[in-house]
Amino acid sequence: MEAANRTKNVKYAIRDIAVLAKQVAKKKKVISLNVGDPNRFDFRTPPHLIAAVTKAMKQNKNYYADSAGEEEAIDAIADFYRSKGVNVLNSDILISFGVSEAIGMCIAAFFNPGDNVLIPKPSYPVYSAYLNLYGIDQKFYTLNEDANWNLDVSDIEKNINDKTKAIVVINPNNPTGGVYDKQTLKDLVNLAGQHNLVIFSDEIYDELILEGKMYHTAALSKEVPVITFNGLAKNFLAPGWRTGWAAIKDVSGEIKSARDALFQLARARLCASTPQQYAIKSALQGNRKHVKDAVKKLKTRRDITFKRINEINGLSLAKPSAAFYAFPRINFGIDDKSFCTRLLEEEGVATVYGSGFDMPGHFRIVYLPKEDILNEALDKIESLVKRVKQ
Ligand SMILES: Cc1ncc(COP(=O)(O)O)c(C=O)c1O
Repeated sequence: MEAANRTKNVKYAIRDIAVLAKQVAKKKKVISLNVGDPNRFDFRTPPHLIAAVTKAMKQNKNYYADSAGEEEAIDAIADFYRSKGVNVLNSDILISFGVSEAIGMCIAAFFNPGDNVLIPKPSYPVYSAYLNLYGIDQKFYTLNEDANWNLDVSDIEKNINDKTKAIVVINPNNPTGGVYDKQTLKDLVNLAGQHNLVIFSDEIYDELILEGKMYHTAALSKEVPVITFNGLAKNFLAPGWRTGWAAIKDVSGEIKSARDALFQLARARLCASTPQQYAIKSALQGNRKHVKDAVKKLKTRRDITFKRINEINGLSLAKPSAAFYAFPRINFGIDDKSFCTRLLEEEGVATVYGSGFDMPGHFRIVYLPKEDILNEALDKIESLVKRVKQ
C-alpha cells in the first residue's frame, strides 16, 4: 500500500538525527547534544511529583480520565493562570498527551486547507509537521538573530495576508533560547487584534529562565484569543509522562466554535494518561527547588557553550537566555546538514542541523550535559571546524 499523501511532508529532524546517531553509536562513542530531554542527563523529576503519581496509581486512578482532563488538575491549571493575570475558564482547559498532542489537536480543530498560520523561523518542527499533515499552509516570520533572536513584529506583519488565521509564538524559544520582552509581546498582541488572528503561545520553558523576565502572552491580551501551551515535560522534568495542556483565553467568545471542535476531538481520543495528571496540582502549587537547581546548572553550561562557540573561528552564537538550547551560526563554506553529519560520523557528536528548524546555516546544541562532557563535545566541534576550514 502506498503511504497516504498527507504524511509526505511530516518531518521531524530531531528524531531523524537520533536514528543516525544510533547507527554511529554501534561503531563509536556518541555524545548526545541532540535531544532536549533533561532526564537523559543529570536532571531528575522532583520527588513530590513522583509521590503524587504513585499515590494516584495506588488509589486505582488508573481508569480513563475525563476527556478534557481530571477536575483536580484542571482546577490547578486554571488557578495557576489566574494567579498570573490570565483569565481562563476551567472549561477552557484541555489536558493532553504532552504539549505535542494539544498542538496537533488545535491545528486540526482550528484551521482549514487554504488557511495559513504564521510560524517562527527558526521553528520548532512540531508546528510544520502538523500543519503539513492537515494541509494547512505555513508562512514564516524570521526571528532576529542580531537582537538575540527577538521577535520582529514588523516582519510578522509583512507576512500576514487575508488567509492568515493565527500566529505561533514560542517563548522561551526552541531552538534559539530567546525570551521576548513585554513591549514586543504587546505589539504582537495588538497586531493580532488588528487582523483578527488567534495567538498560539507555546510557553513550555517558561520557568527555565536564565536571564531576564518571561511574560505570558495571554496576560497581555484583553480581547485577542490566546491559546497557551505548557506541561510537565521541561519545567517539571518529566518529559516521558507525556502530560501537557492547552489553556484557551477567549474573553469575547470569538473562537467558540473552534474551541468546541477541539473538545469534540478530545472526546474521540478518549483522554490523556490519568495517573500523571495527578502530578499537575503538586507541580503547580509545590516548591520550585528543582527549578532553582536546574537553572543554576544550566547557567554554567550555557556560559561554557556561549564562550567556547564564540571562540571558534567560523562559528558565532547569540546568547541564549532560557531553556537549554543554543543555535550557532556556521560562518564558513559548509552546509548545515553536511556539518552535522560529519560532526556525528567523524567526531561522534550528535546535534541537529538548522534546516530541521527551517533555518539552514545553523545547528542546534542541547547544553544539558555535565561540564566535562560538554567540554569534550565542544573540543570535538572545534576540531571538526578546524579540519573542514583547512
Ligand atoms: C517549543 C516546544 N513545544 C512543545 C514541545 C513538546 O512538548 P511535549 O513533550 O509536552 O509534547 C517541545 C519539546 O521539545 C518544545 O520544545
